[in-house]
Amino acid sequence: MRTIVAFYSRTGTTKKVAEAIAEKIGADIEEIKDTVVRSGAMGYLRSGRDAMKKRLTKIEPVKLAADHYDLVIIGTPIWGWNISSPARAYITEQKDKFKKVAFFCTMGGSGDKRAFPEMEKIIGRKPEVTLALRTTDVVKENFSDKVEKFAEKIKGIDL
Ligand SMILES: Cc1cc2nc3c(=O)[nH]c(=O)nc-3n(C[C@H](O)[C@H](O)[C@H](O)COP(=O)(O)O)c2cc1C
Repeated sequence: MRTIVAFYSRTGTTKKVAEAIAEKIGADIEEIKDTVVRSGAMGYLRSGRDAMKKRLTKIEPVKLAADHYDLVIIGTPIWGWNISSPARAYITEQKDKFKKVAFFCTMGGSGDKRAFPEMEKIIGRKPEVTLALRTTDVVKENFSDKVEKFAEKIKGIDL
C-alpha cells in the first residue's frame, strides 16, 4: 500500500504527529507550505479569520503526486473550529487525485467534529480512519498510543 501523509503545521505540533504516523506506517511525507506569513499576533488573527471565513490561501506547489498513492492521510491544525486554510487549499486543489483518505488534526480542545465532516464534504469521500489529538498531549509526548492505534487501523484498510 502506497501511503502519503500530507500535512500543514504552523507551529510544529501537527508536524510532530505527521512524522510519527509516517514513521509507524512507512509513508511518504508532503509538508503543505503556505506563501502567506502566519507568524506573530497578526498572523494568528489573520489565520483565525481566514479559517472561519473558509478562505483558501496560495500554497507552494506540491512535491509529491497524490494520485501515485493508494491512501492520502491529511493532517491539519484546527483554526477557529475549522480546517486551516493551507490544508483547505491542498485538499481543494488535489482532491481529484485522491483514492482513499484518512484525516488527523491537532487542536487546543475542540473543532474536529466540525472540521472532519467539512473535509469529507470538500473531498467527496468518507475518511477510512480519523484521529484528533490535543496540543498539550502532543507537546508532552503523550500521544504514541493513539498514533499506534491509528496506524493499526490504517494497516487494516482493505486496498
Ligand atoms: C488562528 C488559530 C485558531 C485556533 N482555533 C482553535 C480552535 O478553534 N479550537 C482548538 O481547539 N484549537 C484552536 N487553535 C489551536 C491549534 O489548533 C493548536 O494549537 C494546534 O495544535 C496547532 O498546530 P500546529 O502547531 O501544527 O500549527 C487555534 C490556533 C490558531 C493559530
